[in-house]
Amino acid sequence: MSKNVIVTGGAGFIGANFVYFMLNKHPDYKIVCVDCLTYAGNMSTLADAMKNPNFKFYKTNICDREGIYEIFENEKPDIVVNFAAESHVDRSIENPEVFLQTNILGTQVMMDACRKYGIERYHQVSTDEVYGDLPLDRPDLFFTEETPIHTSSPYSSSKAGADLLVLAYHRTYGLPVSISRCSNNYGPYHFPEKLIPLMIANALNDKPLPVYGKGENIRDWLYVEDHCKAIDLVIHNGRVGEVYNIGGHNEMANIDIVKLICKKLGKPESLITYVADRKGHDMRYAIDPTKIHSELGWLPETKFADGIDKTIDWYLNNREWWETIISGEYRDYYEKMYGNRG
Ligand code: NAD
Ligand code: TYD
Repeated sequence: MSKNVIVTGGAGFIGANFVYFMLNKHPDYKIVCVDCLTYAGNMSTLADAMKNPNFKFYKTNICDREGIYEIFENEKPDIVVNFAAESHVDRSIENPEVFLQTNILGTQVMMDACRKYGIERYHQVSTDEVYGDLPLDRPDLFFTEETPIHTSSPYSSSKAGADLLVLAYHRTYGLPVSISRCSNNYGPYHFPEKLIPLMIANALNDKPLPVYGKGENIRDWLYVEDHCKAIDLVIHNGRVGEVYNIGGHNEMANIDIVKLICKKLGKPESLITYVADRKGHDMRYAIDPTKIHSELGWLPETKFADGIDKTIDWYLNNREWWETIISGEYRDYYEKMYGNRG
């Protein structure tokens, strides 16, 4: 049966991948993207979607209550998937305020609209970072859905605040919600301020590769399409009021990722520059995905070896996309964040 799906943050990395995934997987659905186009949102990413009659775009901030209510009145969504967020930990350390506004208050506006107009499902796209971090010397430990919330950065705190609000709207108002908490994604359209695309872009330009601290921090990397598949399963078959962890047991230390990128691009490891560590830097993230596997049959399909090749190829074949980004206001950001970090 055809459905109307609102996707917020669809001009960003994961949201855009989700828009394309849904247009392809559910050709009878109408996908309505709501995005205010912050520095991280990019219309060129959605150029192909704009040609699809089942896709519609609204340039609206999720904190703009009137604007959001009007969209709900026009579009009558069945499902709302909230990706819109400030997503970069380093930026949250510099300026937490907009993180609280968008990530918490924006979530509230979206859920108020859902209550007012009625929906089948509100899905909150959250992160494994709400669980804090795990020590490097305990590889036996993983985040489950029962792991206590214990955040480190303004970013993760704002995401945790939103998660608690989502669960409160379920319990208090009976809003049919679900939450997914995913590990680090990588793939096409990843903004070049994040580890993997930043290292690819810098390596291709023979620029220093800034590794924080000793580079021993571990992340659990998942190819973005596998995340999209998991969300599609949760919004259709996941239980209301539940949290689902998403991750593929693919833990890697940052330094190993950077060395791998050098090798794949034929660049010397001498480009690697160790810089001052991130404040409050989380050591290790690792997801236990047993629940989503056993309840919904989800398993990651793309192995890291294949996913990283596909990702590097994408950055090689889409130079204009990221070169336009790094030649704009991003240059000032880069200078500010990395200029005196050494
Ligand atoms: P991104 O920064 O690439 O994109 C965010 C998008 O949201 C942009 O298009 C931006 O314009 C839009 N946006 C920001 N503030 C907005 C507002 N107030 N109103 C409307 N639109 C707004 O982020 P991403 O990496 O694609 O992450 C998407 C979601 O997934 C976020 O909620 C993030 O917390 C979560 N997440 C990300 C990862 C990851 O590895 N990137 C992992 C787990 C969860
Ligand atoms: P990032 O991509 O910002 O994701 P997150 O912090 O949300 O996991 O960073 C991934 C890891 O890479 C993290 O441990 C910080 C590290 N990192 C660097 O070493 N250098 C960099 O320039 C960046 C952006 C990140």
